[in-house]
Amino acid sequence: MIRNSNVKVDFTNGSLQGEQIVRKETRLKEIQNIFEKRVDESQVDPETIVYEVEYYSRGENHQPGGLLFGRSILHPGKVNDEYFMTKGHFHQQREQSEFYWGIQGKGILLLMDEDKNTSAEIVEPGSLHYIPGYTAHRLINTSDEVLIVGACWSADAGHDYDTILTEGFSKRVKNIDGRIQLV
Ligand code: F6R
Ligand code: ZN
Repeated sequence: MIRNSNVKVDFTNGSLQGEQIVRKETRLKEIQNIFEKRVDESQVDPETIVYEVEYYSRGENHQPGGLLFGRSILHPGKVNDEYFMTKGHFHQQREQSEFYWGIQGKGILLLMDEDKNTSAEIVEPGSLHYIPGYTAHRLINTSDEVLIVGACWSADAGHDYDTILTEGFSKRVKNIDGRIQLV
């Protein structure tokens, strides 16, 4: 029998429709400590959604050989001189790589290897980013509009957030005197 796929991707914004779509939102209050300076609650509400992730998972999550496909939506905003960003992580299985691609908006993909060498790539519609194994990755929205980024990665890659939470990235993207700078 020839049948329709049970999942659809809207390539204009990366949104997924269908079964087995996992969705998660992350609020500022959950990730306050990734920013260098304290969140000033008179400037930005800790309940603000910083980013949303959705991905197609066929229930073989964490199983070797599986793939996950999805998108991240990073909202515009700042905490003091830093732009809204994702927590960032190494993969639990360090050798696992990942593809990101820009769909909408503009931002930066910050990459850091295990020796803390950091590089940054501009993410914009059509940009394709290969994140090699052993490389931590974080998205930063440097614009005033939403940043949407597609992603495809191994289902068993896992996330190691602790290393970044304790050691951080060796560089930060900041708005200094109205300019985007890696410091
Ligand atoms: C999966 C991946 C992305 C991120 C997402 C949120 O390996 O890299 O789907 O998980 O952009 O970022 P984190 O996970 O760092 O909060
Ligand atoms: Zn990843």
